[in-house]
Amino acid sequence: FKVAVLVTGGAGYIGSHTVAELVEKNEEVIVVDNLEKGHRDAVAGQKLIVGDLRDKEFLAKVFSENDIEAVIHFAAYIEVGESVQNPLKYYNNNVVATLNLLTAMKDAGVDKIVFSSTAATYGEPENVPILETDRTFPTNPYGETKLAVEKALKWCDRAYGTKYVALRYFNASGAHESGEIGEDHSPESHLIPLIIQAALGKRESIKIFGNDYNTPDGTCIRDYIHVSDLANAHYLALQRLREGKESEIYNLGNGKGFSVKEVIDVVRKVTGRPIKVEDAPRRPGDPAILVASSDKIRKELNWQPRMLISKR
Ligand code: UFG
Repeated sequence: FKVAVLVTGGAGYIGSHTVAELVEKNEEVIVVDNLEKGHRDAVAGQKLIVGDLRDKEFLAKVFSENDIEAVIHFAAYIEVGESVQNPLKYYNNNVVATLNLLTAMKDAGVDKIVFSSTAATYGEPENVPILETDRTFPTNPYGETKLAVEKALKWCDRAYGTKYVALRYFNASGAHESGEIGEDHSPESHLIPLIIQAALGKRESIKIFGNDYNTPDGTCIRDYIHVSDLANAHYLALQRLREGKESEIYNLGNGKGFSVKEVIDVVRKVTGRPIKVEDAPRRPGDPAILVASSDKIRKELNWQPRMLISKR
């Protein structure tokens, strides 16, 4: 039998699209997910082990019963607002559980990991577009927990030779071209699915969180990157680790920013439906503009987004 790539949180949004990409590339995949947020259907036909990374015995069993070559680690909580309300929940699931995972990897002699990081590690950016070498100063516990893991990875690399690629995602969006999987959070907090719900009449309106930012139309600007392009970057990161190259951190974005109002207008245009908009106060911890420079991953991993978003 073939050695497998273990995908934690593989039944979630970005995880399930990455599993689809790996399967397309003929990789042997094992998914671990506690199904608290993930969906069993999103990994139909794949080997799924249901369990929680906070459970050390469960983890040790996963590594002793399977021949695992590398890990792609998605499992985490991802809501900025909730992390401000309940930081310990985030430290526990995002940091403590990841330390358990790194310990289980070390004990089993697994030395390759691709880690889901985030633009939230930067906080209020110094530059637009943001470079990997820019200051990291998170403005919320969510970003802080991801940065804490990046730092733990650096020291585990030095001490134990655990090689990693940390991918700092900007705003994941879109769905698999099969239409079989997509974005499905509950409760939904992300802009694009909420706007689509409003267009479909499944919600009354969409709230704009702040219209007085220092941007051309006053609303926040984000860098939306297609989830299948993100998924492909994980495959390329895995190849880099297999080539025995050094650990690295890469931004992953589309390089172009769109405001909240622009995104709403696009959904109006695409669906042809009216969308009711309400002005609401700023959401705490939201930087005005987050746009990535993805030059480094383009150059070093030859990553090329297929679903390029362009302004017309
Ligand atoms: N927004 C609204 N109304 C809504 C929802 C969102 O105006 O109902 C705005 C937000 O204020 C923000 C933009 O739309 O300006 C995008 O918001 P999302 O919640 O969709 O995405 P975020 O940029 O807050 O968060 C995303 C990921 C996080 C990650 C963060 C930083 O979901 O996991 O990017 O990279 F931490």
